[in-house]
Amino acid sequence: MRDFARRVRKFVPVPGPFPCFLTVFSWDDRTVTDSTVTESPFLLACRRRPVPHTPVWFMRQAGRSLPEYLRVREGVPMLESCARPDMIVEITLQPVRRYAVDAAIFFSDIMVPLKAIGVDLDIKPGVGPVIADPIRDASGVAALRPLVPDDVPYVTEAVEGLVGELGSTPLIGFAGGPFTLASYLIEGGPSKNHERTKALMYGEPELWADLMARLADLTIAFLKVQVAAGASAVQLFDSWVGAVAAHDYRESVLPHTRRIFAEIGPLGVPRIHFGVGTGELLGPMGEAGADVVGVDWRVPLDEAVSRVPHGKALQGNLDPAILFAPWETVEHRARDVLARGRTAEGHIFNLGHGVLPSTDPDVLARLADLVHEASTDDTL
Ligand code: CP3
Repeated sequence: MRDFARRVRKFVPVPGPFPCFLTVFSWDDRTVTDSTVTESPFLLACRRRPVPHTPVWFMRQAGRSLPEYLRVREGVPMLESCARPDMIVEITLQPVRRYAVDAAIFFSDIMVPLKAIGVDLDIKPGVGPVIADPIRDASGVAALRPLVPDDVPYVTEAVEGLVGELGSTPLIGFAGGPFTLASYLIEGGPSKNHERTKALMYGEPELWADLMARLADLTIAFLKVQVAAGASAVQLFDSWVGAVAAHDYRESVLPHTRRIFAEIGPLGVPRIHFGVGTGELLGPMGEAGADVVGVDWRVPLDEAVSRVPHGKALQGNLDPAILFAPWETVEHRARDVLARGRTAEGHIFNLGHGVLPSTDPDVLARLADLVHEASTDDTL
């Protein structure tokens, strides 16, 4: 039986602002819970401390692979669901109930803070973020104003509700990295080559720096709201930064990412940094100030260990497509990831990128169980 279900039964459901979803518990319970969160396998691994088992969670662990998610989302546009605390709480909890993962990821989107400061954008099903007026010049950059907590009251409300609901399971807050946000804003939508984005980066370095600084400020503010409300860790998704060469990354992206992590540091929560196709960037990304570096499936974890500076835990990195192979293959590959992960100073099991929409939830449940069981096996 799943841990989470056992824990929740200890608490008494009461009517509240979201009576269909929330339960509450006393301050005494909360004090106990706080220390169990700090000592949870996920937070221990982030801090490179010994763990009872390798913690596991999945990027995009909510979302279209879960029938209960599709039911809740029926008829509600993506960005509207990200602004409704009752939906945020329920969707964030769904995968924790199903998979007994070691951490919950806040249900939102990297585009939410941009929407909150007035950027005209939508998230189109099967397409992704689409911007009405892409940023192409200085006036577009100048229009990006700072985010204040009052812009996202629904985030504060949902995080506070979730922390009570989750008990000893930590909540990961997140934001988009500056290159990835810039790419959506400049291209106007998803892009294969990021050509206009890179043209601005190469050709107009001052305007680029202004844009990156504003996006870094936005990200810092959005992460601070989530941590102030009770998130126990944060992940910066600079998903598309792998499109940039290492020397350009160092010059045009790293200073801004470094500032994000430096400003979050004093909040005392572990910081995770993730991007896709970032094998060549693992070194400099490891210098940005995160405690944990996420690795996609292209670089084996024991190889990633030699590319990332000392003093970092690693997160990853089973290819999400492997989940469509027969279970014996999934098991063999998952055990291989665990074995290689043991060469890292700390390891959080994850996929190398998000759960693909048509993934069978039962395979993910089985995988989470396997990670928990196999990681206690010394003969792995
Ligand atoms: O992990 C989670 O499920 C938590 C919530 C989460 C979402 N988006 C919800 C979402 C997180 C952490 C994100 C981050 C995000 N959003 C990233 C970085 C992570 C990554 O995948 O690299 C990026 C690049 C985005 C932008 C974005 N939003 C894309 C590319 C898409 C998919 C578009 C599509 O339909 O193919 C979205 C929409 C989105 N964000 C969905 C979810 C659950 C799907 C919405 C739906 O139900 O149709």
